[in-house]
Amino acid sequence: MSDPTQGDGADRPRGSAPSDGSNVDDRSTVPYLAWRSASPVTRLAALLRGVHNQWRALVRLVRRRRPPTKAGPLTVLLTGASTGVGLEVARQLLATTPHRLVLTARAQSLPRFAVEGIVEGPRVLLHALDVTRAEDREAVVNAARERWGGVDVLVNNAAVSYRAVVEHVRDDEAHAQLDANFFGPMALTRLVLPHMREQRFGRIVNVSSVGGMTAMPTMAIYSASKFALEGASEALWYEVRPWGISVTLVRPGFINSDAFLKVYFTDQGVAALADPSDPYFQHYFSMNALIEALMTLTFFRPEDVAETIVATIGHARPPLRVAGTWDAALFDLLRRFLPSWLHQRLLVAGLPYVWRWGEQAPIVDREAMLPIAPAAPPEGSPERPTIHILRSPLSRVGPAPSPPRAPAAVGSPPSVRAPAPSEPHDTVVDLPPPSRRA
Ligand SMILES: NC(=O)c1ccc[n+]([C@@H]2O[C@H](COP(=O)([O-])OP(=O)(O)OC[C@H]3O[C@@H](n4cnc5c(N)ncnc54)[C@H](OP(=O)(O)O)[C@@H]3O)[C@@H](O)[C@H]2O)c1
Repeated sequence: MSDPTQGDGADRPRGSAPSDGSNVDDRSTVPYLAWRSASPVTRLAALLRGVHNQWRALVRLVRRRRPPTKAGPLTVLLTGASTGVGLEVARQLLATTPHRLVLTARAQSLPRFAVEGIVEGPRVLLHALDVTRAEDREAVVNAARERWGGVDVLVNNAAVSYRAVVEHVRDDEAHAQLDANFFGPMALTRLVLPHMREQRFGRIVNVSSVGGMTAMPTMAIYSASKFALEGASEALWYEVRPWGISVTLVRPGFINSDAFLKVYFTDQGVAALADPSDPYFQHYFSMNALIEALMTLTFFRPEDVAETIVATIGHARPPLRVAGTWDAALFDLLRRFLPSWLHQRLLVAGLPYVWRWGEQAPIVDREAMLPIAPAAPPEGSPERPTIHILRSPLSRVGPAPSPPRAPAAVGSPPSVRAPAPSEPHDTVVDLPPPSRRA
């Protein structure tokens, strides 16, 4: 049998690309493709080895092994811990477990911990972390290593949400979304894995979303980030299992929170929102109202999702996927068991005013909905696209609506004014008054 390492590929690693950039078909140097040139005896031996391997895998599957454990309190690194679900996870871990917590937030959000009554102590280390910044990620993992030897549990909870139709997303905006929700959490995971492998124990909990299993209009790039997180987490589950490391995706549905007030709109999305004649105006209008209504009316609170995350950390064998709320479990069932044509039609039927989408006669009820504010970009971070929110009378959370404003003239560009001090945003954009163009 010929030696596949000889010949053209002898001076480079097996299967690697030729260094001179030539288009040589190098596949014969890849070990698993040597099958083509194997003798019948070698093939039979390989086949028998394969059957034996499968048998061993089957035996391991039915034989319950002791779950990996670590004695004593665990060190938990939690991202986005100053608000929402993250804050609740921190509170519950402090109240119900002996674990040591590395609670992180972006530098400008750190003061919130004191406001919430969380201060540094023997079990708590507060640390600045913007998950998109490599130096922050390294600093926080080093700090955890110096204080407690390393991270045993990583909870990737921090995330941002962009709302835009696909046509309105620029590359830099897409990257900003993926940096926060996918590349950042993945990079942090890579930093904590060596310690977990070394001690043959670890837990990675990635907070995903219903948007990570079912994409919705105007949420394409958010869904893309959560789908990416789901795919990589699933692969990671197989990869790190041999070292007793579990990977779990917690998938919340709609949570009763003010998260819809923190949505990022892309520049083109902002322009579309300010122009009722924009082809996508109705898409944004309907989806903003729907999501706000769902988040305002739902019974599920950040505490419920936090309970699931805390239970996952304490579970002997955490599963790969866990529903964070019951509506997420329902979405999962629909997705799995309905034929996809029926699933899609049901979702379309649930979209408000969907029959008007694509028409040039938008429904704009200015009394019922007022736009507020682009949020200030986080201090020290690269400039972000502005945020605009359409608020409905259903709102029970967030700041009080700004006082009524004189409507701008039809066709005039959006006017920008300084916000009242109580408003969490830095500018407010007035929509032109409603126009019902045929
Ligand atoms: N709320 C929902 O209805 C819902 C539904 C499905 C899934 N989820 C998921 O649940 C998780 C928590 O959501 P939530 O409702 O608690 O949202 P939230 O209240 O908006 O909290 C998000 C947290 O992430 C932090 N964060 C954002 N960008 C960051 C960055 N680059 N680096 C570090 N931290 C960053 C925020 O910090 P700052 O305060 O400094 O901005 C904030 O603390 C997220 O993964 C979200 O996708 C939420």
